Amino acid sequence: MSQYTARAHTNIALLKYWGKTDTNLIIPTTTSISLTLNEFYTDTTVWFDEQLTADDITLNNVSLQGRGYEKVTRFMDLVRDRANQHQFVHVHSINHVPTAAGLASSASAFAALAGAASAAAGLSLEPADLSRLARRGSGSASRSIFGGFAQWDRGHDDQTSVAHALTETVDWPIQLLTLIVNDQPKKIDSRGGMQNARANSPFYQQWVDMANAQVPAMQAAINNHDLVALGTLAEANALQMHAQNMVANPPFTYLTDVSWLIIETVKALRATGIPVYATMDAGPNVKLISQPADTEKIMVALRKVLPEIQVTVATPGPGIQIVQGDR
Ligand code: PMV
Repeated sequence: MSQYTARAHTNIALLKYWGKTDTNLIIPTTTSISLTLNEFYTDTTVWFDEQLTADDITLNNVSLQGRGYEKVTRFMDLVRDRANQHQFVHVHSINHVPTAAGLASSASAFAALAGAASAAAGLSLEPADLSRLARRGSGSASRSIFGGFAQWDRGHDDQTSVAHALTETVDWPIQLLTLIVNDQPKKIDSRGGMQNARANSPFYQQWVDMANAQVPAMQAAINNHDLVALGTLAEANALQMHAQNMVANPPFTYLTDVSWLIIETVKALRATGIPVYATMDAGPNVKLISQPADTEKIMVALRKVLPEIQVTVATPGPGIQIVQGDR
């Protein structure tokens, strides 16, 4: 049996996915748009083994247990059914997404797993099919199949809910500064949070209508290399997503005082003419959409209010790569 390794990079949603119409197939309520990041990725190696009596799954060389294990075996069952290959499997993943970076590793993890597992099972999947498969592990993983800017069309079933590249090569100055507010695992995971907002926010339908209507403007901003339009829209979309959580019954939020302090600092920087915009996912960490030439000025302003803040720079990254190994 062949062994395959896949490398997939994380992505940051500029227009977010926050809620599903189908929790089993993972069909989202909105179309989302993301930027794949070069600095953060997962390498996953997969091979089937008739000697095994259960799946062997490791993450960063540690055997995975509990919910994480269940998620991966359930995902592998999809691959096994599809390939009519019923052996157990070795899945060895190395995450180059520091948990402390505040970026979701599930996107790169399930994209890499989809790539390596389907290849090891003898399925030769086109990128769109790989995206559909990755979606079943984690919605945002559907976008990590592609480099640069990617769009996940919400669709209405397994076939139509799929991501595609908008522009794979990003040859204009855009970067993401990731600021570490808190590196502890979150209390409410994205799966729970988004379903809570969907079920309990009185404005949920407004979010769906508004977010879907933002898609053409985001596409135009990307086509025009317009950082101001892109950032303005991404920040608005992120705040609209977080507003759903705050008005849910009972209300909840991922954002902390420090998150808000950063958002205020970003606004003050913009008032001085620097194009910098905040976006936040299912956690308190804030990511700043900006241009490399402004990094120093942004850091100086941030350090004035948060002297200890840790910052990493992320730039546009490539789509999934699959390599065959020898066994
Ligand atoms: O793919 P999941 O289940 O980890 O959900 C991702 C949710 C957000 O990161 C908040 C938004 C997004 O589109 O990535």
